[in-house]
Amino acid sequence: MSRYKSYHTIENLPNLIGQEVTLNGWVYDTTSKGKLQFIKLRDGSGIVQCVAFKQNISEETFETARSLTQESSVSITGTVKADERAENGVEIDVTGLKLWQLAKDYPITPKEHGIEFLMEHRHLWLRSSRQRAIMRIRAAVAKAIRDFFDGNGFRLQDSPILTPNACEGTSTLFSTEYFDLGNAYLSQSGQLYAEATAMALGRVYTFGPTFRAEKSKTRRHLTEFWMVEPEMAFFDLNDDMDLAEDMVEYIVQYALKTCQPELKIMGRDVSKLEAVRRPFHRMSYTEAVEWLNKNNVKLNKKNQDGTESQYDFPWGEDFGAPQEEAIMSQFDKPCIIHRYPSEVKAFYMKRDPENPKVALAMDMLAPEGAGEIIGGSQREDNYDLLLERIRHENLSEEAFQWYLDLRKYGSVPHSGFGLGLERTVKWISGAEHIREVIPFPRMIYRIVP
Ligand code: 4AD
Ligand code: MG
Repeated sequence: MSRYKSYHTIENLPNLIGQEVTLNGWVYDTTSKGKLQFIKLRDGSGIVQCVAFKQNISEETFETARSLTQESSVSITGTVKADERAENGVEIDVTGLKLWQLAKDYPITPKEHGIEFLMEHRHLWLRSSRQRAIMRIRAAVAKAIRDFFDGNGFRLQDSPILTPNACEGTSTLFSTEYFDLGNAYLSQSGQLYAEATAMALGRVYTFGPTFRAEKSKTRRHLTEFWMVEPEMAFFDLNDDMDLAEDMVEYIVQYALKTCQPELKIMGRDVSKLEAVRRPFHRMSYTEAVEWLNKNNVKLNKKNQDGTESQYDFPWGEDFGAPQEEAIMSQFDKPCIIHRYPSEVKAFYMKRDPENPKVALAMDMLAPEGAGEIIGGSQREDNYDLLLERIRHENLSEEAFQWYLDLRKYGSVPHSGFGLGLERTVKWISGAEHIREVIPFPRMIYRIVP
């Protein structure tokens, strides 16, 4: 038995019919009907209707019940009664009530509010049903990720957030002064450090916040987001893709198993998630380009005079959202695209020995317009080739000395990938915008609250 304080929660009430319980929470809504006072109570785990009947309680308690306002904090004691009409099959027959605080003029009312207003009140907005459902799905997805790796022989290794160099290109770096040592940068990815810990422990994963000074104002970009990054010694690209499929299937099925009430609040079509079963689709970048051109998915480009022309998609260019969406329109489960042109991918990716123009890279795209959720690759494990790539990209040789060391002392083929937590939660929950799937989103124009 645990020693810390425990109390009944609304989600467990169906197991407590006939018993007297005390619930701690906040008032979601109230209705008065003469001698009856209806209080919708929320406690974070769910909502239950509590009925205060004048005849059953003291005058004072009934008056307190009548005075309750939205978001007032209370403890309600009462008997759990089965009620077929109620969402979770129960209601509370109130016998006692303790008021902690009477809330005055709660700013978020049942009427519609604009998104700017809600974002400014994010600290309170989190209390509404949809937002709570999303946050519970987020917690479930994070748990599924940890369970998956912990259960498969991986060791969690945290990567530093303050770093001396870039991982994913220099254009999206946040920098800060670091005492007498010059600039430090907020980590864009824990990968490089995960490679080092993988050489020490075999199979590792790092799971933490990452930062990108993204100028993109889209529904899929944050400047601070969470990423899980497994890294495996002796894994090639195929092994990497197999692992990514297993993990994503596991996460989606876990969410289906544990988040039915939340998915219902979100109005999510769960049949779409049930279809997310291995094997996923796979195609090479080259096959994807052929498919785009065969299906007449043109690339729009602005000419110098401002007009637009349409082109066949040229081999060598990176895909943007329109190409990814077109490719995914034919699929009802995720698709991995592999072997991208090395020029559009990061310096650390190994080139395909069978075709050095492509990197042993892979992205996993999710269906229903969710887009890229995973980016990964086999890593360059040859010292000379890696050094050449570092020089080619004008990166600091000195800063990467330790990273090059990994290719000097017992180098082995190794691979890994990064899954964006928020992209995944957005897809699974069906939330429209990525700003809703992290408690306090950071975007170009928002750092408060
Ligand atoms: O494709 P990315 O940039 O890959 C890496 O960072 C590798 N170092 C990972 C690795 O191999 N260990 O990012 C990986 C994932 C993307 O697929 C996407 O899900 C998410 O991180 N992501 C973002 N999510 C929200 N906002 C952004 N600005 C994101 N940028 C990337
Ligand atoms: Mg990527």
